[in-house]
Amino acid sequence: MLPEQRDILWSFLTLAFTVFALYVFINVVRHCREREDVNGKFWGSIFGGFLVVMFLEAIHMFSLNQAEQMSFFFGKMVLTIFVLLLAWGIFFKSNSVEDQSPPIIRAFFWWTTVSVLLAGYSNWLPQQRSDPPPKATELVGEVTMEEYAEMGRVIIFGTEQIAGQKAIGKGQCPLCHTFDAGDNIGRCPNLFGVGQRGATRVKEERYMTSPVKVNDKEPGSGIIKGDPSQIPEEYRRPGAGGHDSMIAEDYIRESMMCPTCYVVKGYGKAGDTKSPMPTINKPPISLSPIEVNAVIAYLQSYNEPGDYSKVTVPLPTPGDGDEEETASDDGEAPIFVTGSESIDVIVNTLGCPLCHTIPGIEGAMGELGPKLHEKINAPMRIKDPRYKGKATNTKEYVRESILNPSAYLVMNEEENEVYPDGLMPQDFKHKLSVDAIDKLVDFISQTEG
Ligand code: HEC
Ligand code: HEC
Repeated sequence: MLPEQRDILWSFLTLAFTVFALYVFINVVRHCREREDVNGKFWGSIFGGFLVVMFLEAIHMFSLNQAEQMSFFFGKMVLTIFVLLLAWGIFFKSNSVEDQSPPIIRAFFWWTTVSVLLAGYSNWLPQQRSDPPPKATELVGEVTMEEYAEMGRVIIFGTEQIAGQKAIGKGQCPLCHTFDAGDNIGRCPNLFGVGQRGATRVKEERYMTSPVKVNDKEPGSGIIKGDPSQIPEEYRRPGAGGHDSMIAEDYIRESMMCPTCYVVKGYGKAGDTKSPMPTINKPPISLSPIEVNAVIAYLQSYNEPGDYSKVTVPLPTPGDGDEEETASDDGEAPIFVTGSESIDVIVNTLGCPLCHTIPGIEGAMGELGPKLHEKINAPMRIKDPRYKGKATNTKEYVRESILNPSAYLVMNEEENEVYPDGLMPQDFKHKLSVDAIDKLVDFISQTEG
């Protein structure tokens, strides 16, 4: 549920209560009119007062967001109604009004109870739906493959999605990759069908020799290429043999843990000898063995929903998750930065370092986009005859690059072509508050090599 969304139920109950207060007021006034001996002014102003309070509370209710509405309802409104009912009862008793209407009161009590229960229930439902996925330790022992693949889906896409934003989970894969057949945005392979092509790819000549040979160590990750039996033990496939026995699972795992072991043609740097993909089991993404396998289970099964026969990873067994920091704590809430965070946190939360090398941010060595040396780059971009954007100075240029990346496409000097449009996410404007964008622009505008 969106944080600013209002709950129809609370608004409805508020209105219903206000109408009820009006009913009580009219009821009391009517009784006072019928009976001479009752102090009409006194009782009238008491119940008129209640009506005004209810009315003001109703107005206030509409200025709150959903979570606040709930606590306001239970904190203040229920109390007001309770006191109102009490006063009503006293009115009947003290004036021994004959035709008091106990059925109405009883009905009202019954109705309040039911609606409060209903409210509690319906409020609990959406929270259930957006609950964090089961933690790795809780998963262990009783999961089905369907649930395990679902865990993988959540690691890739997250649990919550806001209209207009690409859904992105802890694994960050959709920042770069597409997943639907035929959806190719540019510089990262579409992962549709990677299970099938992985199995045959490991036998291809290009895989055998480039950019490192099978059985050689890839220096960046320290992993021996094409030998699943040499993968670090926590991540290793049980029963894995050497290169001859490699299956699709091994290829996908190697792609994640050692992106430069093999570089898909046309998607690498330096003549396809270096992968721009971050190593998934190392910071900042740092997926655990259980998480890596969950992602593989998802990739092996999502082509054919409901069919898990192609999944080869084992389900996690008791003990697997014991010392782990447990899966998927992060990336659950929709990504949003308010501007009160430090610049490191802002940049890392948004995932800029996965694609950009950013001086001043530790570990920001991404290579899919240009190095952010904007103090020098920005003035050059604005002077470029190809530049058709609106910026007239560095800060404006940086702001435009973040909020509307397609306004100008930077030239990739190494490849001698412009960077592909649509690779830099287009939806940062939904993830940043005004303060956060100011802070980010100030910082990025100062960067230099
Ligand atoms: C910063 C961008 C980026 C992110 C984030 C990223 N990848 Fe990649 N990935 C790439 C690029 C570029 C390639 C192609 C170069 C290569 O082969 O390494 C690639 C290749 C792959 C391949 C091999 C594809 C093939 O067709 O053989 C797999 C599998 C893969 N990525 C899985 C993942 C998964 C799973 C995640 C998330 C946990 C992920 N990637 C996150 C950029 C990224
Ligand atoms: C998925 C990869 C990716 C991510 C994530 C990403 N960018 Fe980019 N960025 C690119 C690419 C590719 C370009 C070049 C194409 C273009 O100009 O739009 C680019 C261009 C830019 C430029 C213009 C650079 C220049 O020298 O003219 C700026 C500034 C920038 N990005 C900032 C950011 C910031 C800040 C973030 C994080 C909030 C970010 N980017 C996240 C891929 C990415």
